[in-house]
Order: sequence, then structure tokens, then C-alpha cells
Amino acid sequence: MTQRRRILVTSALPYANGPIHLGYVLEAVQTDIWVRFQKLRGQECYYVCADDTHGTPIMLKAQSEGLTPEALIGRVNVEHRRDLADMLIGLDNFGSTHSPETKALCDRIYLALRGAGNIDKRSVRQAYDDSAKMFLPDRYVKGVCPVCGTADQYGDSCENCGSTYTPADLKNPLSVVSGTTPVWRESEHYFFRLSAFEQPLSKWVKSGAVQASVARKLDEWFSQGLRDWDISRDSPYFGFEIPDAPGKYFYVWFDAPIGYLGSLTQLCTRTGLNFDDFLKADSNAELHHFIGKDILYFHTLFWPAVLQAAGMRRPTAVHAHGFLTINGQKMSKSRGTFITARSYLQHFSPEYLRYYFAAKLGPGIDDLDLNLDEFTTRLNSEIVGKLVNIASRCAGFITKNSAGALSTALPEPELYSAFTAAGESIAQAYETRDTASAVRDIMLLADRANQYIDLRKPWALAKQAENAAQVQSICTQGLNLFRVLMIYLQPVLPGMAAKVRQFFQESNWTWADAASPLLGTTINAYEPLATRLDPQAVARLVAPAAGAVAPATAPDTATQAATAAVEGNLISIDDFLRIDLRVAKVLSADLVAGADKLLKLRVDVGELGEREILAGIRSAYDHASLVGRLIVVVANLEPRKMRFGTSEGMMLAAGPGGKEIFVLSPDAGAAPGMRVK
Ligand code: 2FM
Ligand code: ZN
Repeated sequence: MTQRRRILVTSALPYANGPIHLGYVLEAVQTDIWVRFQKLRGQECYYVCADDTHGTPIMLKAQSEGLTPEALIGRVNVEHRRDLADMLIGLDNFGSTHSPETKALCDRIYLALRGAGNIDKRSVRQAYDDSAKMFLPDRYVKGVCPVCGTADQYGDSCENCGSTYTPADLKNPLSVVSGTTPVWRESEHYFFRLSAFEQPLSKWVKSGAVQASVARKLDEWFSQGLRDWDISRDSPYFGFEIPDAPGKYFYVWFDAPIGYLGSLTQLCTRTGLNFDDFLKADSNAELHHFIGKDILYFHTLFWPAVLQAAGMRRPTAVHAHGFLTINGQKMSKSRGTFITARSYLQHFSPEYLRYYFAAKLGPGIDDLDLNLDEFTTRLNSEIVGKLVNIASRCAGFITKNSAGALSTALPEPELYSAFTAAGESIAQAYETRDTASAVRDIMLLADRANQYIDLRKPWALAKQAENAAQVQSICTQGLNLFRVLMIYLQPVLPGMAAKVRQFFQESNWTWADAASPLLGTTINAYEPLATRLDPQAVARLVAPAAGAVAPATAPDTATQAATAAVEGNLISIDDFLRIDLRVAKVLSADLVAGADKLLKLRVDVGELGEREILAGIRSAYDHASLVGRLIVVVANLEPRKMRFGTSEGMMLAAGPGGKEIFVLSPDAGAAPGMRVK
């Protein structure tokens, strides 16, 4: 028997100054599919990530919103967690680089680097904004390109001619922060001796740690020679102060990958795992980083060198992917193609996008286009027309004609065996991140299952009562083929797979379960698993928000933002009517052990029966005071599996949080089950 692999996986840390957008979702979905696949195969696999919280942009954004950086990153962390969870990204821990765990590791790693003689101090001349009293990062200085003369270019490179330079080379430089002309000042900086690691890095690259196209890029960098890396920034800076260096802070890119390990530390503390098992120099655990191709330098040069210098193991592999384009174009706010995870989720199931991405993701670094017409067609023809069709054509006969019982043998076991035999090459495709090929093979099997049903025509046979046993066995075959496909697709469609498991009355699946058909067991009544996408609704994903059109007289930024927030999120009356709002009566309200924000409510929704709802209102309500009260609930929300149970609806409440949460209540006289209009 082969040994169970122990695997730690990360995706790049999203910056804590903006929402999760579909470009990030692509990366998270790619990572999540790989992780869920490993878990399904029985490997010991963990997926950690965190918010990337430090640096000048976040410090300035907080200032402009009148917030402390801590308040800003706290708010964004809540939003990021929620968006990723709703995209069904199964993270084992999502932390923040602004955590005690990351700080302790930064100090530990830095001191190890310094102790081994890998830190040098050098004086650096840098742009300084005398009115804002701060040093300016290269992108905070703008001016005229010294090469082609184009105006309004950043201090590091020209968007017109592509030349790279330093801010000191710009003509007429101006500070982006204050609009004043910067001055030049010297200050002491701390450098990591990257140049000393050239040899071991090039060996590491050759160990198969990166894709072939990435290895070629790295060769270019090696041939240019590696330069030492400036890991410090001057105050004011939002970050961690460097030990024994008052007023000097770790550069955000120094602590960001260490944030992976800070998040791992939190996971270890919570679950009893051992950090060193993953990070010690001779660890036999695997470490995989999924990243975008724009941050290769940090992950394939700086990061492995820092780990090695700190006496830790290096990554097993860094997997880079390409960028996401929307209808063939770069995501852009002004074109309306900057789609956030939240705006997508307001309209469509996360699994539709997960499936589309999976069907197009390969192991390389090519860009991936989200073409909205193709998105609609593929979903409607592959998920609704092929996959779900298998189950919906067979389930009814089993439920109605055989009291839900599957037959005790398969009529065509060799067809079933062909489906299980295909499993190994599908698994191989997942393992090598060729999910496009895995999905293609699964859909070819779906075609075969549909052909089988077309040929055997259970609907025609069912017209004669004496065919009952034959109909039962054909549909048992069809449903078992469907079950195999759903096991193979579980990494991509975890929510749908959970529903299908329930349908088959199974609690859990492993990849190996595909090898044995379900025979003689009972199934639950079939409930629709996916509905067709309306192309017009999909097209609205990129309709420019009404608030984005420049008004004749410019309102202040706050008004503009508010208009965009409302108009960009308009829903149709049809959307509204799909929400089933009902009066409910609280029958009991209990604390939830281990969850300091939640209450578990049992509510009576009249004709809809009783429901259990987990509500984050504990900070504002004494649980006993809620019993007997009338509330309003969303009654047709998909049940949501949470760490502390399944919530079968949502109660409506208003307010910013903490003590200020106000549960909405109808007047006396309303009765449980009444519709709220
Ligand atoms: O490029 C980015 O979006 C960074 N926030 C990624 C950091 S990944 C890691 F190194 F922490
Ligand atoms: Zn230029």
C-alpha cells in the first residue's frame, strides 16, 4: 500500500484593500479543486491562505477612509472570508499577515537570516514627499518617461514604451500622495543576500519545482544575475518593525509569504498538527504554492532562498497560472468587466463558474478567457443537458415504480467497469492540474451514460407493468453511472456532489467508492440539481454599472460611490419575487458551543414546517429573550453547511454588528408562515 501523502497547499494572499474579484477566484478555484481532489483520494492535505495586509497602499487607503489600517483590514477580512466560503473554497485556515503568528515567524526567520550572515545594511537614495512626510514607493511617483516622453508614467516603468527605470530617471516627477515634487533622501536599508543562493536555487528549479515555461523564464533571470533584495521600508509604514531597527519595517513582500506559515501556525494550534512536520529542512511533507504568473520572482527566487537561509525546507512546487480575461479583454472597472465575487454570487451558483474554470484550466500559464456566451452554452449543454439529465431521466422511475429501491444487480456491468477504469487517467489529469482534460473525459462518459438510457428507453418500457423489473435495473444502471461521474466531479462541484450523496443516502465519498456500485439500497426523491442559465442574465454581469457613467457635474466621491453601490446592484422584480420571505416564530434559541457569535434558533414557519437557523446575533441578544418572538426569515435559501451545523434559512436583521444588531419583527397579528411582501 502506498503511503498517505502529507500536503500543505496555499494560494496567493489577496490584498486587504479591495474585494475578491473573479481573477482571484480563478486561482482559488484551481487550488481548491486540487486540494479537494487530494482529500478525496485519501491524502492528508491542508489548504491555508490569509489576507495580505501590509504596505503603503493599505496604509493610504485606510487614511483616505478615515480608518485605522487595523479597522480596514478587519473589515476586508470578514468580506474575503465570506466571499471565498460562498465560492465553496474549502480553506482549512484563512488568516491575516497582521497576526501575532506571522509576526513571530518574521522575527524568527529574519534573525536566522541575520545570524547566518545573510543580511547587509546599505544606504539607499529614495524619493521623499516632504509634505506627506514619507518615503515614496516607485509607483507613488509619476512623471514623464525619460525614454519616449510619455506623460503620467509610474516611477518604475513606462506603459507606452515598456522601458524600466527608477523614479530618479523620470522627468518632472510628482508625488502621487500630495502632488508635490519629491526630494531625494538617503536612508539605511536592510538587504537579503539573494546573490548567495544562485547555485542552490538553480538546482531547486531543476528538481521539477516549476513548470517548464517558468524554468525558461528563470534561466533568463539567472543569466542576468540575482541582485540582493531590499527587505526594509522606513516609517511611516503599516507592517512589522524589524528587530533592533527602530523605525524600520519589513517590506510587505518579505512578510507576505511568511503569512502562509502564520496561517499554518493557526491551523496547527487549532488542530494539534505540528508546524515542524511541514517546515523542517528534511520534512517529507509536500509544500505547494498556487500563484499568478506575475508574482513568480517572489515565489521562485526570494521565497525558496529565504526558507533555505532560515534552515527550513523549500517548496515542493510552485504552480503558476495565467491571467483571467473577460470576453477577451483585461478586467477593467470602466468597461464594467471588473467582476467581483460578490456581484457574481448575487446572480449565479458558485458551481457554474467553478465548472467553467475547471473545464478550461490546464497545467500551463496561458491566460484563460471567461467568454460569457460560452459560459452560458457550456453550462446549459454540459451540466444541465448532459450530466444532470442522466439522474433526472432515471430517478423518477425508481421512486415511483420501485418505492425508491435500486435493483440488486447491474444489467450491464461491463459498462460500469468502463466508467471505473477511466478513473485512473482522470485522477492523473487532476493530479497534474490538467482539469480541462479531466472534465473532458468525464463529459465523454456522461455522453455514454446518456446513450445507454436513449437506447434502453425506460420511459417506453414503463408503460407496461410487466416491465417493472427491467425498468428498475436500467435506471439503477443509469443512476450508478451518474454516481461515478459525480464522485469524479466532486472536487469541482462539491455542493452538487453533497446533494447527490444525500440523494443516494450516502454520508461520504472517497475516490475508491466509484469502484463499487450501489445495489439494493434506497434512494431519496430526486430534487433538481441545476437550472438553465438565461443568456440575458449572464450578459448583465458585465453591463457597466449606471453609477460608472460620468454625470454632468461631478458629485463628491462619497455620493458617486453610494450611487454605484445602489445602481450597480439593482435586481429585477423577478429576482425579488424568487426570495421567499416568511414570518416565523422562534420556538427555541440556544448558544452554540465554541461559536461566540452564533445562536441556534428553532423556528416555526407555519405551512413550511420547522427549521433550524444559525444566526450571528449572539453579541446583541440574550438568547432566552428571543423565544416566542416573531421574526422574518428567507425561507428558500439553500441549506448552508457551517462548521457548527446546517442553517436552513436566514433571519433578517439590520445594523453594523456587535451590540447594534436589530432583528426585524412583524407586528403582532402576523402568523408563522405568512408571506412577507
Ligand atoms: O500579488 C498579490 O496580490 C500579493 N498580495 C500576493 C502575495 S502572495 C504571498 F507571497 F504572500
Ligand atoms: Zn516610454
